[in-house]
Amino acid sequence: MDTQNLLAAAQSGLLNTAVRPEVVMQQGRGMYLFDTEGKQYLDFIGGWAVNCLGHCPPALVKTIEIQARTLINASPAFYNKPMIEFSELLLSHCSFDRVFFTSTGAEANEGAIKLARKYGQLKKNGATEIITTWNSFHGRTLTTMSATGKKHWQELFGPKTSGFIKTTFNDMGSVEQAVSDKTCAIMIEPIQGEGGVNIADHQFIRDIRQLCNEQHILLIFDEIQTGMGRTGTLFCYEQYGVEPDIMTLGKGIGGGYPLAAVLAKEQFDLFEPGDQGGTYTGQPLAMAVGKVVLEELVGRDLVANSHQMGVLIMERLRANADQLRIERVRGKGLLIAFDLRDMDGPALVSRCLEQGLIINAPGPKTIRLMPPLIVTEKDVDQFLEILTRCLNN
Ligand SMILES: Cc1ncc(COP(=O)(O)O)c(C=O)c1O
Repeated sequence: MDTQNLLAAAQSGLLNTAVRPEVVMQQGRGMYLFDTEGKQYLDFIGGWAVNCLGHCPPALVKTIEIQARTLINASPAFYNKPMIEFSELLLSHCSFDRVFFTSTGAEANEGAIKLARKYGQLKKNGATEIITTWNSFHGRTLTTMSATGKKHWQELFGPKTSGFIKTTFNDMGSVEQAVSDKTCAIMIEPIQGEGGVNIADHQFIRDIRQLCNEQHILLIFDEIQTGMGRTGTLFCYEQYGVEPDIMTLGKGIGGGYPLAAVLAKEQFDLFEPGDQGGTYTGQPLAMAVGKVVLEELVGRDLVANSHQMGVLIMERLRANADQLRIERVRGKGLLIAFDLRDMDGPALVSRCLEQGLIINAPGPKTIRLMPPLIVTEKDVDQFLEILTRCLNN
């Protein structure tokens, strides 16, 4: 099928859930995607903050090949070797003691929400309410949509799950006001990714941790976007000098393979058999992938690269801010955003795509960058060259 026929089939066959440009991606290699016409694109969204090792990394391809020949799925009713090996490795790199694996971030957050409510039921007189923040994003299941702080989602698909109290990000007074004897948890992204890369203040996070300690409320960090080296440390919580009680991971944990996780401290190992599950939990192929992704991130020092390249990108953007007519360059590691002074975000995204660069506009005037963690200085030069051309034309 040629590209035009492929596009026609997509437009007539797929449910209308997203506005997509008229290109069909066919291949990936390192920092690049290639479409069916053979055009190459420098990928600065990395599969939506997912492909941390780049596209089709050899180590991942090899692991998938070997594991696919050995065991793809044994059923959630059994332990399997990759599940045990990966959980051990993951837990050795963070401050948590227990893990449950899922396929998507939304499912991981569902697991965290259930665990928090179980805690409320067992330890806090049946408390069920969870405090979240405006502008947050926690997923697209009905419950995680309810937790999410997008104003225009409030009325969608009702009735949704009740019990989520929205507060203002970086405003401790707003959080304090929302706490009651019904509160079982506070759930927060240390950096709101989909919300436009809004970074939590250190004091805000420390105050939330203290409030949670005093009131025996669980602190849940949604690190689905910020985890796995994205923000310059393996997990973003490390930069705040606090430890959450529960953390969720997704995106980069599978390097492009659907994988996510809920992690908890030992004292919150409160599920009983039957409370939580899923056909694909701990599926051997996903577990083998997770293990090799983490080994590569650590073994190749890609977390340090995330920090260094992030600093470089932000320095270059700031140094050229007037010429590019951009402002509020912000971020940590390779989760970066800036605002456009006059141009429209989606228009810039289209122009860059035409010129062979993929970037994202999470808001009408905001551009977000989340390149693979393998990005080099040469890639940064090319990114800036295309961006400058697109902003000045
Ligand atoms: C912070 C955060 N939480 C949850 C999710 C949902 O993850 P998924 O799309 O894998 O369900 C996302 C996805 O963008 C996210 O950025």
